[in-house]
Amino acid sequence: MKPSDTPKTYRVKSFGCQMNVYDGERMAELLDAKGIKPAADGEEADLVVLNTCHIREKATEKVYSDIGRLRKADGSKPLIAVAGCVAQAEGEEIMARAPAVGMVVGPQAYHRLPDMLDRAVKGERSTDTDMPEDAKFAALPKRRKVAPTAFLTVQEGCDKFCTYCVVPYTRGAEISRPFGELVDEAARLVDAGAREITLLGQNVNAWSGEDAKGRAVGLDGLVKELARLPDLKRIRYTTSHPNDMTDGLIAAHGEIDKLMPYLHLPVQSGSDRVLKAMNRSHTADSYLKLLDRFREVRPDIALSGDFIVGFPGETDAEFEETLQIVDAVRYAQAFSFKYSPRPGTPAASMDDQIAKEVMDERLQRLQAALNRDQLAFNEASVGKTCEVLVERKGKYPGQWLGKSPWLQSVFFEGDAQIGDLVRVELAEAGPNSLKGRVLESVSA
Ligand code: 5AD
Ligand code: SF4
Repeated sequence: MKPSDTPKTYRVKSFGCQMNVYDGERMAELLDAKGIKPAADGEEADLVVLNTCHIREKATEKVYSDIGRLRKADGSKPLIAVAGCVAQAEGEEIMARAPAVGMVVGPQAYHRLPDMLDRAVKGERSTDTDMPEDAKFAALPKRRKVAPTAFLTVQEGCDKFCTYCVVPYTRGAEISRPFGELVDEAARLVDAGAREITLLGQNVNAWSGEDAKGRAVGLDGLVKELARLPDLKRIRYTTSHPNDMTDGLIAAHGEIDKLMPYLHLPVQSGSDRVLKAMNRSHTADSYLKLLDRFREVRPDIALSGDFIVGFPGETDAEFEETLQIVDAVRYAQAFSFKYSPRPGTPAASMDDQIAKEVMDERLQRLQAALNRDQLAFNEASVGKTCEVLVERKGKYPGQWLGKSPWLQSVFFEGDAQIGDLVRVELAEAGPNSLKGRVLESVSA
């Protein structure tokens, strides 16, 4: 790699989960602090950070094709950094295969990106996939985010080792960020304009810490503390694991108004045999019982989940059990995927990998059921009045888009500002959004 000018503009392209979105924002803040500006829309940046996802197939190939395509207006290559989980898993190979890449940095090491950049400008390529525990957050600049909805990573990594999943290898062991640091970051986000904060973690409900008085607290304790910030109107959290659910967090849904009535709790399969082979350590029945407890304290709670079809050895009958659990839960929203063998995971070398056509057919049937339920959930909301947090302008003049407490997208026309909480009557439902009529603005 040849020495180059210090980049003047950057673009961070994040793929995959919300934790990557959060990491992408933090990397942008690091680059801002170095005096580099975000590239304007449609303009090619001098530095491109590809913040990659490794959870399912083709992710790696996509990274190489993105690297191949990146060009500045004058035809030259920008400086390229590969970050995220593909960087963690395939760092050395990326360096060997893609000479245009100057920096490879894993999800636990990106606070070192500015130093790596200094070296890249001198023509030195570098790879950093260390996993120093918790050093990253302390080294990051203060938050500057101004959107009304913000992410806050509270917990990282995973110790569950579901047999299909790369996350424990790419994101490392479970760690919880300290209580005080999180309260501080949340307060800064609110000062910068956030009205809703979504607490993030691979197993967010495994978060644990010590409050200001040194008492052990779980995620419910953190939520309670954040609910005291007057200008913070809404709190959400994702993604939870059924086995880490606590009585306190369930109860919090009945006690804290700012905690939104929405729960993303992946089940993956409705078959106990498949769940065991996935190393999920819950059953279909224990999962349903857990949901009942949420519905007891918060009857209107919207439920969401993740599903995998075609796990090795999944029979037709076992897939039918997945459809049955969908029928039993009636999800408001859900995410479903074809099983994708990930190198190095136990399931990738299991017998009875399922044919692609079988997976395609199962996924279609599952998604038809999930879409049916999502539409039914939206239709059942029609006639209700709720608060909508305004996130942005809609497509048409005078139109706004925001989210209901149940995370539905709601379009409405009227007098509003981004960041307002507006009282809206839900008037019309579609599969992915609703239309509402404004009644009044609740807060400015
Ligand atoms: N194949 C398909 N889906 C997967 N997920 C995780 N690993 C795989 C895989 N190997 C899905 C799970 C998880 C979501 C984030 O991605 O449903 O909850
Ligand atoms: Fe992956 Fe399972 Fe951990 Fe979720 S709980 S990140 S699916 S290993």
